[in-house]
Amino acid sequence: MHPRCVPLFSCRATCQGSTEVDRRGEARRAMTIDNVTQRPAGGSESARVYDYFIGGDSGLEADRSAGAWIRLQAPDLLAAMQENRFFLSRAVRWLSRQGVDQFIDIGSGFPVSPNTHEIALSASPSGSVVYCDVDHAVGQRTRALIAGTKGADFVQADIQNPEELLAQPAIQKLIRSGRPVACVLAAVLHFVPEDADPEGITAVLRESLPSGSYLVVSHIAGDIPWADRNNAETLERAFEDMYPRTRAQVTEFFGDFELVAPGVVPAARWQPAEGMSGEQSDLAIYAGVGRKA
Ligand SMILES: C[S@@+](CC[C@H](N)C(=O)[O-])C[C@H]1O[C@@H](n2cnc3c(N)ncnc32)[C@H](O)[C@@H]1O
Repeated sequence: MHPRCVPLFSCRATCQGSTEVDRRGEARRAMTIDNVTQRPAGGSESARVYDYFIGGDSGLEADRSAGAWIRLQAPDLLAAMQENRFFLSRAVRWLSRQGVDQFIDIGSGFPVSPNTHEIALSASPSGSVVYCDVDHAVGQRTRALIAGTKGADFVQADIQNPEELLAQPAIQKLIRSGRPVACVLAAVLHFVPEDADPEGITAVLRESLPSGSYLVVSHIAGDIPWADRNNAETLERAFEDMYPRTRAQVTEFFGDFELVAPGVVPAARWQPAEGMSGEQSDLAIYAGVGRKA
């Protein structure tokens, strides 16, 4: 196992490559418990644990067990991931209403409906959505889902190498159109460590976008306390390979883009749907949308 493949909620980006099959097998072997009230012993993957949280079915047994364990021990983490997904859908709908019909969804994760292309292309059938994720398995599932869907594509790339990512022909095609593009970074930047320069990465992405484009960011918060019902040790383990950031740090990712109201806020507070209870308002995940002048 890769040394950074820590238990429970490790970052997929750190351990892809030729050991994929071995590593999957290892995760299966290591996960011996069948009672989620005990702490799981094996490693799991961010994309798959997250997929479990938002109702998908892409995980291995190890990932489902890790997800179930986290749900019991830290229910607000599950709720925060669900709020993130609701935010993503609202943001894509909002952008579609602004007339944006080109989306680059980076760190897109395993597909779970409603996916970005389902929302964007139903609003604008001639639009384009390019999904991008570092995880090969995410690519396989996404490509299978979008096969034959005009306007939807997937590229496997690492956000930590933004120049290479932006050079992908499918992405270049959108950027070179000169028309606004929405660059979606939902729940991915918190997997980028400080020494990989997330501010620099987002600056390169922002710079590449045509005028009138948008940046969408959601990010685990480092300055919103978790309620006592969440087990501190479980949260600590869940975040071993994640980098929660403050509201000010998340706001920095927008650079000189103008923040759309209400700015960078807990995800449930970003343009909540009418009738939303607001109960989940202060879960520790920030969200925002910014526009390039
Ligand atoms: C928590 S999921 C978010 C999925 C989706 N964006 C959402 O908000 O519902 C994070 C995704 O980011 C991907 N990811 C992690 N590090 C990445 C990197 N360096 N480059 C690209 N994708 C990455 C993971 O593989 C995973 O699919």
